[in-house]
Amino acid sequence: MAAFIELRDISKSFGALQAVQPTRLTLEKGEIFSLLGPSGCGKTTLLRILGGFIEPDAGSVIVEGQDLTRQPPNRRPINTVFQNYALFPHLTIRDNIAFGLRMARRPRAEIVRETEAMLDLIQMRGHADKRPDSISGGQKQRVAIARALINKPRLLLLDEPLAALDLKLRQHMLLELERIHDEVGTTFLYVTHDQGEAMGLSDRIAVMNAGRVEQVGPPAAIYEAPASRFVADFIGDTNILDGDVLERIDSNYLRLGLDDFGPVLAWNDKGLKPGDSVHLSIRPEKFTISRERPAGDGQVNTIRGRVVDLIYLGAQTKYRVAVGERHLLVQQQHQRFQLDTRPIRWDEDVWISWHPDDGYMILEQEAPSGEAG
Ligand SMILES: Nc1ncnc2c1ncn2[C@@H]1O[C@H](COP(=O)(O)OP(=O)(O)OP(=O)(O)O)[C@@H](O)[C@H]1O
Ligand SMILES: [Mg+2]
Repeated sequence: MAAFIELRDISKSFGALQAVQPTRLTLEKGEIFSLLGPSGCGKTTLLRILGGFIEPDAGSVIVEGQDLTRQPPNRRPINTVFQNYALFPHLTIRDNIAFGLRMARRPRAEIVRETEAMLDLIQMRGHADKRPDSISGGQKQRVAIARALINKPRLLLLDEPLAALDLKLRQHMLLELERIHDEVGTTFLYVTHDQGEAMGLSDRIAVMNAGRVEQVGPPAAIYEAPASRFVADFIGDTNILDGDVLERIDSNYLRLGLDDFGPVLAWNDKGLKPGDSVHLSIRPEKFTISRERPAGDGQVNTIRGRVVDLIYLGAQTKYRVAVGERHLLVQQQHQRFQLDTRPIRWDEDVWISWHPDDGYMILEQEAPSGEAG
């Protein structure tokens, strides 16, 4: 069966700049799919190619088996929500929402019915007769979404739709977007540089870097099993330790020699052999920090360090721990924190430990910056 929506080897340059490297992506029906990456990595370009606002240099856009690459935006079953809302200032909220159906010359009764349904969907019935300049930013964003959804697109494109809103409103609107998506079931392509938004909202994420998709997967897979150094660094905090494979312990575990750290055990899910070079990514919360050497069973990695910085955050404490020349980020959740235990302080010698399964091995070397641009 053909994929619902398919980008086949799409690429796009602006002059000498390759904004999108040859890219292949498929979207599944009904999912929320995010393009996530830093500013300038090509997210908007890819979104605009899907919407028909930019023609790709090569490749094709396939929607439900149909090649739409040469179709203009208004011939595609795709609508876009822009960051600046693009509402008509002289029209009421109701008329803004009804606009698409009026343009399509739908019967009056249908326009009324669908517009009222959209007002209910975005919970704005009480504001229907106002004009855009007398409603809030979050409300304008909801109107922009309703105005796009009333056309019943197969795909809704959202380009940084929450960027203009303050943090509280952004969090609220994320929940709103999820609720609206649950009700309509339309496929969403969501563009953001904010990993929190992408992680919280998406069924799947494509992480982009310099015009290239580096990894596609559900949020947890991207966080727990980053495919590249860039992805590991971009999504959340991590510690990346460089080294090479010393020996194979058994079919499951390896002993690695890490610069500054000496030998440690690692889970061998990549079929590595002695001599291979590796980068081990360990998230701060995978570490345990303690004053006494952890008992362990010989299977736990332990290293000695010194606390050079710490921030107490109530539910957790973040530490910076010096090990040789390196500083590790360590984060400890306070689960059974007791006021009478003596907390670890600045400048104390500590043990850092982690289970071999909690480090994730990354094989590739980071691409030199600018290589793709
Ligand atoms: N019309 C254009 N002409 C020339 N260069 C462009 C054009 N549009 C985009 N670019 C360049 O292509 C690259 C990708 O731009 P794009 O807008 O797709 O990035 P983005 O990931 O959406 O970034 P942001 O998070 O800042 O919105 C950037 O280097 C940008 O400067
Ligand atoms: Mg953009």
